[in-house]
Amino acid sequence: MKILVVGSGGREHVLCWTLAKSKNAEKVYCAPGNAGIAQEFECVNIKVSELEKMADWAVENKIDFTVVGPEAPLCDGIVDVFKARNLAIFGPSKAAAQLEGSKTFAKKFMEKYNIPTARAAEFDTPAPAKDYVATEFANGEKGIVVKADGLAAGKGVLVADNAKDACDFIDLCFEGGFGGAGNRVLIEECLFGEETSVLALVDGNTIRPLASSQDHKRAYDADKGPNTGGMGAYSPAPVVTDAVMAEVKANVLDNVLKGLQAENLDFRGLLFVGAMVTDKGVKVLEFNVRFGDPEVQAVLSRFEGDLLDVMQKVSAGKLADAELVWSADPAVCVVMASGGYPGDYTKGFVISGLDAAAATGAKVFHAGTGLNSDGKIVNTGGRVLGVTSRGKNVAEAIKKAYAAVDCISWDGAFCRRDIGYHALEHEAAK
Ligand code: AMP
Ligand code: GLY
Repeated sequence: MKILVVGSGGREHVLCWTLAKSKNAEKVYCAPGNAGIAQEFECVNIKVSELEKMADWAVENKIDFTVVGPEAPLCDGIVDVFKARNLAIFGPSKAAAQLEGSKTFAKKFMEKYNIPTARAAEFDTPAPAKDYVATEFANGEKGIVVKADGLAAGKGVLVADNAKDACDFIDLCFEGGFGGAGNRVLIEECLFGEETSVLALVDGNTIRPLASSQDHKRAYDADKGPNTGGMGAYSPAPVVTDAVMAEVKANVLDNVLKGLQAENLDFRGLLFVGAMVTDKGVKVLEFNVRFGDPEVQAVLSRFEGDLLDVMQKVSAGKLADAELVWSADPAVCVVMASGGYPGDYTKGFVISGLDAAAATGAKVFHAGTGLNSDGKIVNTGGRVLGVTSRGKNVAEAIKKAYAAVDCISWDGAFCRRDIGYHALEHEAAK
């Protein structure tokens, strides 16, 4: 079978790599891909926003199955465009993708289908939003969360511990700081606890979680600094005990499935539930309608089944028959980022040490990489590489991942040095 993966990040690299191991995978293409993906798979120069062009290319090249990585083409309706041409594809319809595309849509869905989440209010103008913030702090809240309503690449959210920062961020949203994504804001109660990313396959009839995982959202060690798209991940996440997973299944996943069915939303793909494990139970922070990145790099590094077969079953509504097989060995992914990320970052620097890193046995998934005019690999994006390793235990996986990280350098490169620290704390507390 010929497979097309749409996107160009670390997520798409690990998707290509895992799909290529499937029994029926004949050839894997990636559009548009990146420099690292191009070393292993054929990349096609079509942007993820060019939906009709992508579908034309898939028809002409007799693609049997397409997997979409990022949220933007899903929210733009790529699944509807492909299905209209009878092309098999993995992902939610445009209507269902609103679960990620609109935070207010998602919040209403959660409230309607009894999915536990943070208390929230939405505002179309800044003044009442600021009054609400003032009242919340006056009522003794220790924090407040402001969210721009729309896609903002993980940056349209501020967790503030004072009213001034929250109000400044409200102004930034309404002044167009996040493009069209800031014409409305959602203001939420601040939840405290440990976060986890639950990735679940859903086909309209069944919903099944993958192995558990945890991201590290903040830019710097000890969860300091601004929110990012994710600085590293590991799987499994010890915070997700069997009891927590059972709670997520009963209170979140099963209710999501009921809601999708009741609202006639066609979702045959991957639902990502960002959740906070609080002392009052699990609460949903957000839905995404695609694999989390870098979580997927850790999760799929432990996957020992046939991903193409699983995804085809999802697309055909037969997820109940799919075999999900996991290695017991934990996996850790450390993200290496460009200097300045998540703000303006420096780029175009030659990356050295990639071969030495690979020789350690770790897998280096590429995200923001390209080739310069000499054909050398350079950093082109904020998040550049996802250096991923498995180990007999989480401590070993961490050690191996950092041994590979330490082989790699470019001007301005940085990474967090504490990826997996929650897992180590849980182990120590056993
Ligand atoms: P979101 O894009 O909605 O997941 O928000 C990005 C990040 O902000 C989350 O991963 C959390 O770390 C944090 N966050 C979002 N909502 C809340 C909340 N209600 N309470 C505490 N932290 C939150
Ligand atoms: N790592 C979080 C995300 O993919 O949204």
